[in-house]
Amino acid sequence: MKITDITRCIAPELQQFELELKGIFSSPSEPMNEIMQYLAESQGKRIRPILVFLSAKLLGEVNASTFRSALFVEMIHSATLLHDDVVDGDSERRGRASANAKFGNHNAILAGDFLFAKAIKLIANPADHQIMEEMLQTANAMSEGELIQSEAPNSKLTEEKYLDIITRKTAMLMRSSCVSGALSVGAEEAIVKRMADFGLNLGIVFQMRDDMLDNDQPECVEYAKQLIPDYRLKALKSLEGLPETETSQALKDLLAFCAERKY
Ligand code: IPE
Ligand code: MG
Repeated sequence: MKITDITRCIAPELQQFELELKGIFSSPSEPMNEIMQYLAESQGKRIRPILVFLSAKLLGEVNASTFRSALFVEMIHSATLLHDDVVDGDSERRGRASANAKFGNHNAILAGDFLFAKAIKLIANPADHQIMEEMLQTANAMSEGELIQSEAPNSKLTEEKYLDIITRKTAMLMRSSCVSGALSVGAEEAIVKRMADFGLNLGIVFQMRDDMLDNDQPECVEYAKQLIPDYRLKALKSLEGLPETETSQALKDLLAFCAERKY
């Protein structure tokens, strides 16, 4: 199934999201604006904002706080990609030159910092207090994860360590995407917890599939192949008892996409 088919129930929201995101990827300062324009031209899959919108829609009505959360997670994602490509020395991203390859490491890092700061400014709203706390905790865990990962080559990668790394580097932000979507519509604590588990397990599945597609670390590929079915099931279980609607079906389809995707 294609993402556009899966997300039909939030198509108007995603359209509005793209417009707002375009406005955000800009700067009055020309050198920064040039990098922002370059980034805005190449669109990713938008999995994280999709998780925000679907979680909100499943439990209530999408509102301004939902939009701020969706923009926030995509900006944090973009910032971490900018920094990641510098750390890994990657020269390609989304099928073309990465920002570091095109503008240099120095500028790519500064552009990442710019997006981080802009993201925090966006969510620094008293109404989003809980969302901000959730998100900043995740941002911390992500940076810690990067360091753990760069230490990993020196020691054997156990299953436990593998899970810790992928949880931090990918799954936490997907967890936070679901949590912020749920919080934005005032969902109660027990329900937020369900959505958190769903996002976390979907994120683990997403990264395992990524490792299988990358196919450059044999140990990771082995763990991923072995564990994907378990985590897929865990994610599905987290949705039990929640409203069964077109939106919950979309979340299930998105999970299937994450587990089976080719890109
Ligand atoms: C790439 O994430 C980095 C990982 C966490 C594997 P995505 O595959 O969601 O990146 P885009 O935004 O769709 O390019
Ligand atoms: Mg990658």
